[in-house]
Amino acid sequence: MRLNDIRAAYDLVAEDYLAILRHELVAKPFDRIALSAFAEVVSGPVVEVGCGPGRITAHLHSLGVDARGEDLSPAMVAVARRAYPDLRFDVGAMTALDVADGSLGGVVSWYSIVHTPLAELPAVFTEFARALTPGGHALIAFKTGDAVHHLTRAYGHDLSLDVHWHPVDAVATAMTTAGLTELARLTRPADEQEKGPQAWLIGRR
Ligand SMILES: C[S@@+](CC[C@H](N)C(=O)[O-])C[C@H]1O[C@@H](n2cnc3c(N)ncnc32)[C@H](O)[C@@H]1O
Repeated sequence: MRLNDIRAAYDLVAEDYLAILRHELVAKPFDRIALSAFAEVVSGPVVEVGCGPGRITAHLHSLGVDARGEDLSPAMVAVARRAYPDLRFDVGAMTALDVADGSLGGVVSWYSIVHTPLAELPAVFTEFARALTPGGHALIAFKTGDAVHHLTRAYGHDLSLDVHWHPVDAVATAMTTAGLTELARLTRPADEQEKGPQAWLIGRR
């Protein structure tokens, strides 16, 4: 999918996405474990790339992380700024982060690689590695499997969006190829609200 199509889809759903998912983490203890583990090991400034309406950036902030968010969708960024006015959110693409080399303590991609084909992940992770200071950490959350699902309706809207479920080993290989050593992985089966299993990887530059 082209970035313009992803941006258009998320511009359309931004308001409803936050209304539906704002408090989702309350019912997701294992997701919170991945975020808490990352918060414990990371130090220095963190960018959540593909932050959407900012709920994960805000959760990281509540754990003491110096976190800000970037997203492709201007509507998502506007919603995030309104929902979390004390935090910083900017429009940006995860393949071209607006930061100096080695300037971040951490990068989080929380389900923002779900529209990126496997073949394009090494370029994404190479950009994360460029932005990270040596010893900096990356947290990658994604839907796992080996399929592409085409969505025509989501968050109460008609849209067109491909969702990639990636094999965990393949994502881990893309991460290590980009210079991020795997520190931990967590997987779990789908819960009642989900269609498939979930995975998290933590890597270190
Ligand atoms: C499933 S949402 C996740 C949002 C947020 N991380 C959360 O969990 O609530 C995916 C987000 O990634 C953003 N995104 C997708 N591809 C991107 C890219 N190449 N660069 C920046 N953001 C991107 C979308 O605009 C969307 O807001």
